[in-house]
Amino acid sequence: MIKEIKLPYPLDALEPYYSKETLLLHYDKLYKGYVANTNKTQAKLEEARKTGNFENIKCLEKNLSFFGSGIILHELFFLNMGPAMPTSPNNSLMEQIIKDFGSYDVFKKQFAEAAIAVEASGWTLLVWESRFDKLEILQCEKHQNLTLWGCIPLLVLDMWEHSYYLQYKTDRKEYVSEFFYILNWNEVNKRWDKI
Ligand SMILES: [Fe+2]
Repeated sequence: MIKEIKLPYPLDALEPYYSKETLLLHYDKLYKGYVANTNKTQAKLEEARKTGNFENIKCLEKNLSFFGSGIILHELFFLNMGPAMPTSPNNSLMEQIIKDFGSYDVFKKQFAEAAIAVEASGWTLLVWESRFDKLEILQCEKHQNLTLWGCIPLLVLDMWEHSYYLQYKTDRKEYVSEFFYILNWNEVNKRWDKI
């Protein structure tokens, strides 16, 4: 069971920049709804594993992404806001921002432009991409698009056609079943041990 976080500030603490009414609706209704629905989805997945009936798997995975990412992104958002008082990136983060964006002002400009340009519902994030050794700014439109933002990938299977079509044609089932013969758990274990 996933438990809701408590806001570390009163509901009117962000006034006048973010109204009490908005925060109440956002935290109390929307965010708590995401938590309840993620728990419901996880219970249904548990049931499917028990019964072996995965006929609703697409819907359940989509709900897991939508409600689960809703929890993670809202918690990051709520916690990275606070009563108006001057704060700034610490020395090492500022150094990285300057290295990757040129200056704090350029970072702020890119972040704002990316946020304004998000199509319809979505988010803007400053993220650390360890493979690139670099901070990046991302737009996230439709957070339900089958990811759980904030998760750490452990095991990956490429389901793009280029990965199997030449050999397996349309037989995705066969490709997936053969994958388990060449799956290297040692590497997955290494990733797991770093958590
Ligand atoms: Fe929201």
